Amino acid sequence: MPTNAERLSRLDRMRTESTLGGGQVRIDRQHELGKLTARERVELLVDPDSFVELDAFVTHRSSDFGLAEQRYLGDGVVTGHGTIDGRLVFLFSQDFTVFGGSLSEAYAEKICKIMDLALKVGAPIIGLNDSGGARIQEGVVSLGGYADIFLRNVLASGVVPQISVILGPCAGGAVYSPAITDFTIMVEGTSYMFVTGPNVVKAVTHEEVDSEALGGAIVHTTRSGVAHLAAPDEAEALAAVRRILAHLPQNNLAVPDLAPTNDPGDRMDPDLDSVVPDDPHKPYDMHDVIRRVIDDGDFLEIQPGWAPNILIGFARLGGRSVGIVAQQPSVLAGALDIDASMKAARFVRTCDCFNVPIVSFVDVPGFLPGVGQEHGGIIKHGAKLLYAYCEATVPKVTVITRKAYGGAYDVMSSKHVRGDMNFAWPTAEIAVMGADGAVSVIFKDEIAKASDPAAERARLVAEYEEEFASPYIAAARGYVDDVFRPSETRPRLIRALEMLADKRDTNPRKKHGNIPL
Ligand code: HXC
Repeated sequence: MPTNAERLSRLDRMRTESTLGGGQVRIDRQHELGKLTARERVELLVDPDSFVELDAFVTHRSSDFGLAEQRYLGDGVVTGHGTIDGRLVFLFSQDFTVFGGSLSEAYAEKICKIMDLALKVGAPIIGLNDSGGARIQEGVVSLGGYADIFLRNVLASGVVPQISVILGPCAGGAVYSPAITDFTIMVEGTSYMFVTGPNVVKAVTHEEVDSEALGGAIVHTTRSGVAHLAAPDEAEALAAVRRILAHLPQNNLAVPDLAPTNDPGDRMDPDLDSVVPDDPHKPYDMHDVIRRVIDDGDFLEIQPGWAPNILIGFARLGGRSVGIVAQQPSVLAGALDIDASMKAARFVRTCDCFNVPIVSFVDVPGFLPGVGQEHGGIIKHGAKLLYAYCEATVPKVTVITRKAYGGAYDVMSSKHVRGDMNFAWPTAEIAVMGADGAVSVIFKDEIAKASDPAAERARLVAEYEEEFASPYIAAARGYVDDVFRPSETRPRLIRALEMLADKRDTNPRKKHGNIPL
């Protein structure tokens, strides 16, 4: 019979063994690749000394392919809970030093356990991914384990925030867990995501491509839109998780924390009065508008490199967390195309899930014309954004800075789609289309018959601009609640959000809507 002292020392021994993962040699290799270990990542992410590990003694149950002789305590994934800025989070961190972080049945069970706990207590789930995918020796059991995780990702979607960080390989069906989560953050140079890797691509399509070019951080944050942020290193990626979480509540029944600010709520910015150029065809940078309005100019832009004709991200107004959606007139004149519609639609829905009010800055000439856009399905993709704004019940405050033309006027959180407070700057032009287009259609015959068609056209355009390219026709109907000087935007938004803080709105009861996918 072992003594108590022997039992304690056995526990210590096992604990130490479990922290070593696949052993020092593999840990050294991980470091040589410029990567941290699973545990180092956890320590960087959570508040000091807050991490509580679960299932450190779990091992796999497989004996095929010599696995019986290779059992590692913890089986390749570190799971547990901790705090971030004092708030509870659940997390798993895949350990590449054990079977390349590959997922076994027992490993999947560990992840499912913390996901179930997170749902039970209503706390965010963070996944740190660094894995060779399904543990090949375990076969279909491993695939089943993935599916168990996918199901939980879906059931947790819209209930607790889920954030994925990609810190190494993430391939095959494994990419679908991050894809379902709310935010995916990648590290430049050391992480990649793809459904089939370069070898399979070469065999099937004869395309030569390496992992980075196929599914690296730059590709997914600029071309595919699969990932939301690319960080230069792991520490920055983990810091981004903390920044995103600060804007989100613990779950769908809570609201984001207020963050005290020294930036005065009544601060005016006279420079905003001249930010929109006199020439309606001249662009300006909407970042400039956003930064001048929000608390301390602190804008956490999401997906800055993908579909840059629309800007999305988190900020605070009077300490209150808000999601910002804004056209960027300096890219494609701020037109809504397929990617921009999908980018903003997903973000609007993310904000709505988690009770984050949405502030929209509108300067949109319309949906982007073109065969490519039409054949690519701009109708159904544009409808996603319309759908997202319509179904969102969080406070929705809109500022039209310049153009709000055509269907894009309706879509961009207009009064008609339950915008709560709709404001316009005096520079706003709310109309079916721009003066040039409108005059060409309505006065086609008159222009053709005129002795000097160009002069007649110019006269009619000027007349149209004077009469219709303004916010006052919409304001006369109450479609905009007020027109104010751009310099007043910050105080007006803060007061609107304060007024709407206890807004209650619901949608009809249904199983779920059928957003055009
Ligand atoms: C078991 C694995 C493994 C796996 C890696 N290892 N992947 N063990 N199952 N899937 C082990 C290796 O044997 C090695 O063990 C250690 O992890 C490190 O792997 P290396 O190859 O030495 O590392 P590296 O050169 O960095 O290459 C990493 C890699 C490569 C690119 C991930 O290992 C790789 O291609 N692995 C296979 C990937 C794959 O095809 N997975 C299945 C995909 S299908 P030792 O003992 O030497 O340290 C899939 C389906 C999911 O995932 C479906 C969900 C629906």
